[in-house]
Amino acid sequence: MKYKRILLKLSGEALMGNKGFGIDQERLMEYAKEIKDAYDAGCQVALVIGGGNIFRGIQAEKGGMDRVHGDYMGMLATVINSMAIQSALEGLGVQTRLQSAIKMEQICEPFIRRKAVRHLEKGRVVIFGAGSGNPYFTTDSAAALRAIEIEAEVILKGTRVDGIYTADPEKDKTATKYDQISFDEVYSKGLEVMDLTAFTLCKENNLPIIVFDMNKKGNLQNLLKGDKVGTLVIA
Ligand code: GTP
Repeated sequence: MKYKRILLKLSGEALMGNKGFGIDQERLMEYAKEIKDAYDAGCQVALVIGGGNIFRGIQAEKGGMDRVHGDYMGMLATVINSMAIQSALEGLGVQTRLQSAIKMEQICEPFIRRKAVRHLEKGRVVIFGAGSGNPYFTTDSAAALRAIEIEAEVILKGTRVDGIYTADPEKDKTATKYDQISFDEVYSKGLEVMDLTAFTLCKENNLPIIVFDMNKKGNLQNLLKGDKVGTLVIA
């Protein structure tokens, strides 16, 4: 196993599958199975999931809603997704703990870094909900922050493309994929990996990022074994 402790970031949209809104149960189970395989292989897994399948703060602002208000609603959306993945994982016999950046003690634990690390050491998948608890920060930023706090070796950004390309592969057919790229090259070439806050947090704390296709079965396992999967961003 190449990595012993990872933070896996999944987008909320990915949970929609082919639906236009909400959670596709089939997709949810597929993700849970991938995570279970990583967990069974002995990897300590922390998880952050977005909320865009339910609510997007930025879009709500365009419709006239106060940005901060919208962002808090988005944070609550991530808790719903976190609860869904928690339930799916536990259905497969994986022990989990959900910690939220916004206190809601009837539903989950509050975020306590040392407790999160202890849970990981005890073999529980730890899910971090409600982003970082702050408006104006994305779930990518929350994922980077939590990854650094729990001293994950790498942040894995599971997306629907299989890595970082020279241009958007969905628009430009000549685009080619990087196997590896430096933080500085990502900046200088203006490539989009994460939002800049999240990306800078990773760079400044020397946290490698791997962007990979989470929808391809076995990809996560192969990546953890050390196979070349996706694109590695490293100093
Ligand atoms: P260890 O004692 O280190 O083994 O961890 P533990 O998580 O098993 O112990 P704890 O007694 O803290 O938690 C037992 C159960 O209660 C777990 O399922 C926790 O997720 C849950 N739990 C702990 N604190 C809270 C809380 O503030 N709110 C909610 N809703 N559940 C909690």
